[in-house]
Amino acid sequence: NEPDFAVYSVVDSSNDELKLLAQEQKLAAGYSVFAEAQTAGRGRRGKRWISPFGSNLYFSVYWPLAEGIHGAMGLSLAVGVALAECFGSLGIEGVGLKWPNDVYIKGKKVSGILVDLETLADGSAHSIIGIGINLKMPESVAQHIDQAWTDISSEIPTIMSRNLIAARVRDSVLACLSEYDAAGLSVFQERWRAYDQFLDKPVRLVMGQRECVGTCRGIDENGALLVQDETGVKRYFGGEISLRLQ
Ligand code: BTN
Repeated sequence: NEPDFAVYSVVDSSNDELKLLAQEQKLAAGYSVFAEAQTAGRGRRGKRWISPFGSNLYFSVYWPLAEGIHGAMGLSLAVGVALAECFGSLGIEGVGLKWPNDVYIKGKKVSGILVDLETLADGSAHSIIGIGINLKMPESVAQHIDQAWTDISSEIPTIMSRNLIAARVRDSVLACLSEYDAAGLSVFQERWRAYDQFLDKPVRLVMGQRECVGTCRGIDENGALLVQDETGVKRYFGGEISLRLQ
């Protein structure tokens, strides 16, 4: 019995749309909301996600958190691995991951993940995993993007329909979410390393007013970022951290 999905034309944010649905009805794990456009697409750290109509992918996946919200950090990393592996399987070269869950191609951002966590009145918890993928970015909005970016259509070696790419990506995400539930993040640590574009590189972490520098050493079994400085390897955790090359 395949989990269901819905396709909307325009929404504020597919995460918010799915959040409302989850309050109103019992959803199956994996239920997804796709949108053709978003008027208030959200990125991490309060940024907006530019979401023009009809050419990129914007979708959100409902996933229950049987263990409560503490496993959610690992879950978002597992989704990053799912996207990286999927893009790799489409024949795209130079796919990389940046902690916690940004996907790059040849150093340019192609996809981002925004996980919202919810606890309901009955005490159950679920995540809403929002995924934005640049498929074909229209010229007209490209100038508003404040970082180096690329899109799948510029990087994929074959022509592939948008629907097929959407299905492949969602399948990969659902498979990794099931795997994460069954085995935790440990099965993803090595797979993350294979794509980690900061591994063993000098990095700078920015956390509000605070900054620290060191060498990136990948992720631990809980999904924390490992950074080594003169005093040893430190773990960093939390949604407000921005990771940059030194
Ligand atoms: C980031 O890189 O900062 C995360 C971007 C996440 C964007 C997606 S698009 C679908 C879903 N709905 C939203 O409002 N945001 C996520």
